[in-house]
Amino acid sequence: MSRPRAPAGRLRWVVLVVGGGLALQLGGCGRTSPSALDPHGPGADRVAGLWWLLFWISAVVFVVVCLLVAVALARRRGDRDTLVRRGGGELLIVVGGVVVPAVVLTAVYVVGLRDLRALTVPEGADLTVEVTGHDWWWEVRYPAEGIVSANEIHVPVGRPVRLVLTSRDVIHSFWVPQLTVKTDLIPGHTNTTWIQASSPGTYRGQCAEYCGLQHAKMAILVVAEPPDAYAGWLAAERRPAAAAADPAAARGRLALERNSCAACHSVRGTAATGTLGPDLTHFGGRRTIGAGALPNTRGNLGGWIVNSQTVKPGNKMPPQPLTSEELQDLLAYLESLR
Ligand code: CUA
Repeated sequence: MSRPRAPAGRLRWVVLVVGGGLALQLGGCGRTSPSALDPHGPGADRVAGLWWLLFWISAVVFVVVCLLVAVALARRRGDRDTLVRRGGGELLIVVGGVVVPAVVLTAVYVVGLRDLRALTVPEGADLTVEVTGHDWWWEVRYPAEGIVSANEIHVPVGRPVRLVLTSRDVIHSFWVPQLTVKTDLIPGHTNTTWIQASSPGTYRGQCAEYCGLQHAKMAILVVAEPPDAYAGWLAAERRPAAAAADPAAARGRLALERNSCAACHSVRGTAATGTLGPDLTHFGGRRTIGAGALPNTRGNLGGWIVNSQTVKPGNKMPPQPLTSEELQDLLAYLESLR
């Protein structure tokens, strides 16, 4: 026959269970960007509000259940074989196990439905951006402006922007946690969502649907700017590629047009009209290379062009057999494309 556990021993177990549970819950917290709990737009505000509501309800339920377990352990009489039965537990089970969960879950469901309705595209979203998923980068088009770009969406602060999403190959998912919820990009189908940034900044997004080898290196940036800066960006993007400013850039343009670059990439206003890879017309102004794989610096770009497979294995760009002079000229040209 086992001896009843001493009160100190029971208490140790209760502390262990409660402490472990809290540590597990708090371990996921953090203020590192991009976090859905650091919202910068009305859509993400809704999501964060719902998250905190669920968190506090869960926390209260967790504490109440822990207290009940502690009370039950402290008041236990007898050992495992001779437990003393007490009366009056049925009401607790009916109220705590049926009535309270039904009320709480129904209330949460209603709040969830309200937020779901609020997340539909608002009437005033007159700016449309088309985003197409590719393995593993994002094509970005402003159809009304004739702009084609990649891996970066520029938006004016405070204005809702309608996003029309589709995919060229497999299912991807658009997710910028600080601005909005996830929406899938599906081949042969368009989904619509919207973003609105309430303050200027660069918000990092990430493909949120496993899409193959480089799913993790499929990032997108949303750059939210004050209306004036956004108008300036728009005007610059509308223009075809800048003329080569110096002899090196001019040779670089020729290298781009004559080598295999032009088969996959477009630079508006040149002989490069490929559509398999990102449009490079204003590549020099972009912040990253390879959909967030590297910061857009001359050194990183050189390494990427020579053999991007070492940075992002499996991506569709083959190594480029260029002479070092050709590479330097090409870098000068690409950097000048602003
Ligand atoms: Cu695209 Cu995961």
